[in-house]
Amino acid sequence: MYRLTCVQCGRSYPPDEILYTCRSCGHLLFVEYDLDSLSIRREEWDRRPISVWRYRELLPVTIPPVTLKEGGTPLYPLERIGEEIGLPHLYAKHEGMNPTGSFKDRGMTVGVSMALQLNKSTVACASTGNTSASLAAYAAKAGIPAVVLLPAGKVALGKVAQALMHGANVISIRGNFDKALEMVQELCISHGLYLLNSINPFRLEGQKTIGFEVIDQLGCVPDRIVLPVGNAGNISAVHKGLGELHALGLIERYPMMTGIQAKGSSPVVRAIREGLPEVIPEGEPETVATAIRIGAPVNAEKALTAIRKTGGTAEWVTDDEILAMQRDLARKEGIGVEPASAASVAGVRKLALEGVIDPSERVVCVVTGHLLKDPETVIKQCKPPTEIDADVQSLLSTLRSC
Ligand code: F0G
Repeated sequence: MYRLTCVQCGRSYPPDEILYTCRSCGHLLFVEYDLDSLSIRREEWDRRPISVWRYRELLPVTIPPVTLKEGGTPLYPLERIGEEIGLPHLYAKHEGMNPTGSFKDRGMTVGVSMALQLNKSTVACASTGNTSASLAAYAAKAGIPAVVLLPAGKVALGKVAQALMHGANVISIRGNFDKALEMVQELCISHGLYLLNSINPFRLEGQKTIGFEVIDQLGCVPDRIVLPVGNAGNISAVHKGLGELHALGLIERYPMMTGIQAKGSSPVVRAIREGLPEVIPEGEPETVATAIRIGAPVNAEKALTAIRKTGGTAEWVTDDEILAMQRDLARKEGIGVEPASAASVAGVRKLALEGVIDPSERVVCVVTGHLLKDPETVIKQCKPPTEIDADVQSLLSTLRSC
C-alpha cells in the first residue's frame, strides 16, 4: 500500500498515476508507504540473500521483477587509506560490482519493473552515461525498447559501449546533460514514453537499498554515509530509505548524509555552505568526473533536506584530488572505480584533514561505478606497458632496469 506524495505541499496521488512532479506546485514526488499496514520482520529479511529484493516489502513492485541480480555489493574496509588519513573505521560500498557496473542497476530493476507494471511500452532517459547503460540492459531484459539521450563527447567510452551493445536507441545531443534531461522530459510527457531519470520516484526506491545493505553488512548504523552527488538522486534515495527504517523502529538514529561534488560542478556544495534555500544552477559545469558533470541537479531539494536534517555536509574536490584518489583506491586497496566514485573518498580525505570528520567516526563511502566504465581516463594516468622482444633475456633485462 503506497501513494505518490509531493515533498513540498503534501498532495497525494494514486500509485498508478504516471506523474513525475506535483500537479499543484510542480515539486518532486516520493513514494509514501502505509508503514502500519506492512508486515516487516527483520529475521525474515536476514533469511533472504542480500540484494535489492531482500527488502521487497519496502518496494513498490507487485509483479515478478525484471532483475539481473543487482545489489548485494561488497562493503570493503579501507585499511591503508583509512590509516593514512586517520580514520580507522573507513569503508567503501562498491556499487561498481552491480550487473552493469554501477548503482543505477538498483534503480533500474525497480524502475523498469514499474514500467511493465504500469503497462508502459517504451522507456527513456537522459544520462551522463551510467543510467543509459543500465536502462539499456534492463530494457533488453524486459524486452522493450529504450531511448537514451547523451551529452555528445562527454560520456565515458565504456558507458556508451554498453548502451549501444544492449540495443538502446542512443542519441547524442550537442548540449550538456541538463539540456538532455530537459529534452527527454518534454518527449516523455508529450509522447507517453516512461521516464526513468531519478525524477522518477520509483527508480529511487531501488537505490535506497544501498543504505539498507550498509546497515546489514556493518551490523550497525554508520556515523556518516558519503556519496558523490550529480543529479542528487542517490543521496536523497538513501536518506529516504533510512527514514523508513527509522519510522519502523528498525534504526534509532541517522548517519550524517554527506555529499561530494567536483569543484567545477558544485551547486549543492554552494547551497549548503551559503545556507541557500535552493541550489543556484551552474550553466557550464566541467569536471573529469563526467558522471557528475551536472549544473542543475533535479533532486536538489530532497538532497538539501537530507544533508541538513542529518547534520551532514557537502564538500567539493578538485579533479586532481579525484584522480589521485582513484589511483590510491586502485593501488592501495585493490578497488577499481571510475572518477566520480573516487570523489566520495577524496572528499572524506579532505574533510578528515580539515577536522570535520572525527577519527572515531564509522564512515561509509559509496563508490558508485566501476573502473572499466572510463578506460580512457585510466590510460591517460598510467605509464603504457613496456613492449619487448619475445625472449626471456629481454624480459629479465627489462625487469632489472625497472
Ligand atoms: N556516481 C556515478 C558513477 C554516476 O553515474 C552518478 C550519476 C553519480 C555518482 C551521481 O548520482 O545523480 O544520483 O547524484 N549518474 C547519472 C547518469 C546522472 O546519467 O548516469 P546522482
